[in-house]
Amino acid sequence: MNRHPLSRRRFACAAASLAVPVARARAGEAPKMHTVTFPDGTTVPAIGQGSWHLGQGRHPRAAEEEALRTGIALGMTVIDTAENYGDGASEQFIGRAVEGWRDKVFLVTKVEPENTAGDGIARACRASLGRLRTDYLDLYLLHAPVAVSSFRGVVAKFEELRESGKIRRWGVSNFDVRQMEALFRVPGGDRCATNQVGYNLRNRAIEKDLLPWCTARKVPVMAYSPLATGNSAVVRDPDLAKIGAGRGASAAAIALAWVVRGGNVIAIPESGSPEHVKENAAALTIW
Ligand SMILES: NC(=O)c1ccc[n+]([C@@H]2O[C@H](COP(=O)([O-])OP(=O)(O)OC[C@H]3O[C@@H](n4cnc5c(N)ncnc54)[C@H](OP(=O)(O)O)[C@@H]3O)[C@@H](O)[C@H]2O)c1
Repeated sequence: MNRHPLSRRRFACAAASLAVPVARARAGEAPKMHTVTFPDGTTVPAIGQGSWHLGQGRHPRAAEEEALRTGIALGMTVIDTAENYGDGASEQFIGRAVEGWRDKVFLVTKVEPENTAGDGIARACRASLGRLRTDYLDLYLLHAPVAVSSFRGVVAKFEELRESGKIRRWGVSNFDVRQMEALFRVPGGDRCATNQVGYNLRNRAIEKDLLPWCTARKVPVMAYSPLATGNSAVVRDPDLAKIGAGRGASAAAIALAWVVRGGNVIAIPESGSPEHVKENAAALTIW
């Protein structure tokens, strides 16, 4: 993973690029929300929720459930998980937590590269659907690149799942530009709906080539670790806190608003704390 820590001055400058007036809702008007549109025209809120450690005892289960459902109620409806998070525990936790709310959420899960051979993708998808207690995924991702020579077969398997209605769309994760170009060269490869990669105020590597490449092709980027994995240099940064104070928002909310500022990035912060989730949801309407 490329990391480009910013100097203190450059970090403050980057964050200050958000120092524009908050879109103030006129009386009775809902505040404008950051959204992102997939190539098939489906629009989702630009701040979702990650779940790498959820359902695994980091917080009390009731707090994590309340956090996830609070986030959904506040508009953070894109829920990201993976078959290997807690060996399925994260998917199981989400399946239970969103029961009865399936139509309110946009469920994203991932297949591991080592499960892509033969009928592996269909098998992994069936298992994820079972753990998530649903009969379709909104988005199914390849968690990490496989060899370029396997792209054609992986795309064909994803397309079979899409045509059967088990998944609505598919995408990739941790692909660089060279791999995206190779993907777009195989039949159906340009149906890729997203690339999920690391992006935050302290890791801006994708701005060099991957983000412009995806934006030019209208392929949304999903930003993982948008709070730099809770790094206090982001979530407790005094410059961000100062910018947030003027908006009644936390440093974390400003950091998330910065990640989604361009209109083609969905941030998926993880939190098992209802209070943190409320802070994070504020980023949806910070401009
Ligand atoms: N595709 C991939 O290869 C990949 C890799 C990594 C992650 N991901 C996905 O991206 C999601 C997010 O990434 P991440 O978990 O690495 O990092 P992150 O979302 O940047 O940070 C999560 C950490 O920040 C804390 N936090 C959240 N909101 C906060 C707030 N308002 N104030 C202070 N602290 C706050 C959380 O603690 P609390 O729980 O206490 O709030 C947690 O420790 C993962 O859950 C996963 O779904 C994907």
